[in-house]
Amino acid sequence: MNRTPKIAPSILSADFAAFGAEVRALETAGADWIHVDVMDGHFVPALTFGPAMCAALRAHVATVMDVHLMIAPVDPWIEQFAQAGADILTAHVEAGPHIHRTLQAIRAAGVRPGVALNPGTPAVAVEPLLGLVDVVNVMTVNPGFGGQAFLPVEDKIAAIRAMIGDRPIHVEVDGGIDAATAPRAVAAGADVLIAGTAVFRGGPGTYARNIAALRAAGASAS
Ligand code: DX5
Ligand code: ZN
Repeated sequence: MNRTPKIAPSILSADFAAFGAEVRALETAGADWIHVDVMDGHFVPALTFGPAMCAALRAHVATVMDVHLMIAPVDPWIEQFAQAGADILTAHVEAGPHIHRTLQAIRAAGVRPGVALNPGTPAVAVEPLLGLVDVVNVMTVNPGFGGQAFLPVEDKIAAIRAMIGDRPIHVEVDGGIDAATAPRAVAAGADVLIAGTAVFRGGPGTYARNIAALRAAGASAS
């Protein structure tokens, strides 16, 4: 089985004064998707980007703009993030009481829907949603900050991969992914590795090496 994962660098670890150049450097270095962490200072403690920033970034993203919404409520913002050019819009299952409506609204806006779940949320929380999504983001840290340690949720990743069966749904892992944790996540069933710290460490001259190392580590999973 080919386990070579996609690598999605999180620009949360980028130079905030140079996002366009950073995205181009990441794609030249082999990034498959560009992961954009939207935080609202409410659902998570930190505050990051809005739709205007995503719209500005769009011109620099030649691959896939994967927008992770760590916001509540989600629904009032869907249209603006769709207009901003998101390819994937991921909402947290914990972010509101009407997640089907949210995911349907994302699809209706012409964007691929994703659902994210926090480390403390069980796999069954996304089971009723698998008919509505193209992506499941299994958080491997509590969202809100880069640079946190990977939480061992491999059993949950495996349970979700089993629930998905042969449906064409990506399983992302997000948080604390490096060359040591990537094989654990891929062995459990992840096929998209989101990484901030492990990609950006060392500066632009090291992005290609860091991305290749993550991909190789993931592919080595047994
Ligand atoms: C965490 C974010 C992640 C984060 C990953 O709230 O969703 O995307 O940037 O960063 P690292 O790889 O540093 O854990
Ligand atoms: Zn993220």
